[in-house]
Amino acid sequence: MKTIVGNWKMNVGTRESVALARGVLLALRGKKRLPEVALCPPFTALGEVRKVVARSHASLGAQNVAAEEQGAFTGEISTRMLVELGVTHVIVGHSERRHLFGETDASVNQKVIRTLSAGMVPIVCVGEGAADRADGKERDVVAAQLRGALADLHLRHKERILFAYEPVWAIGSGTSDTPADAVAMHAWIRSLVPELLPGIKPEQVAVLYGGSIDGSNAYLFLREDEVDGLLVGGASVKLSEFTKILDAAADVLDARAA
Ligand code: 13P
Repeated sequence: MKTIVGNWKMNVGTRESVALARGVLLALRGKKRLPEVALCPPFTALGEVRKVVARSHASLGAQNVAAEEQGAFTGEISTRMLVELGVTHVIVGHSERRHLFGETDASVNQKVIRTLSAGMVPIVCVGEGAADRADGKERDVVAAQLRGALADLHLRHKERILFAYEPVWAIGSGTSDTPADAVAMHAWIRSLVPELLPGIKPEQVAVLYGGSIDGSNAYLFLREDEVDGLLVGGASVKLSEFTKILDAAADVLDARAA
């Protein structure tokens, strides 16, 4: 399976979100084989986008969630609130949250545990910065982030986790990683799974790539077996680009089935 996640960040209001969601559903129409699709609008648009994607192929995702369950946490949104809105996927530990809002591996860990126990699928983001890459430390950085994010986690039978490998230097920069380097990192992440999540089946873990994906490079990543899907930022709020990405995913699925 291939999974395409659109992270709309703080780039669209409710009206644009509804139009985008409608456009995405239209783009999926008539395809023989569909990737799994999750759309992550801003919190304020979740209620309206939910109505659009209800009973469709697309799932509803949130861009963040509170680490705490309930209480005096002004401005925070809990897992229960998200579940009430029909949210099934939650982006956790995005690099913008880590770097701009001080999220730590410990808070990411709490969010992952809460998201799973609320019955939703966490999309756990990891990725090294430019300096780490220049120093050849990318594997160590990613492994440390994963160990932190998944500490004390015991995945139950039907629970799923998506990992998103997003090298920080590739996010919003217009320069993606190379498919070959992404494949190598995804293989590294997968090789850590027995240590990170003892006893879980490989199909419970998918590794997505994110960072400057658009309509022109999506296929080059998606055709790789190690790339289970894409987490798309900027190109996910441009319907024509996102449509090309969905087309690329459908093409890969068709080619595999042929
Ligand atoms: P861009 O696709 O804009 O590089 O953003 C990637 C991202 O941060 C998705 O979460």
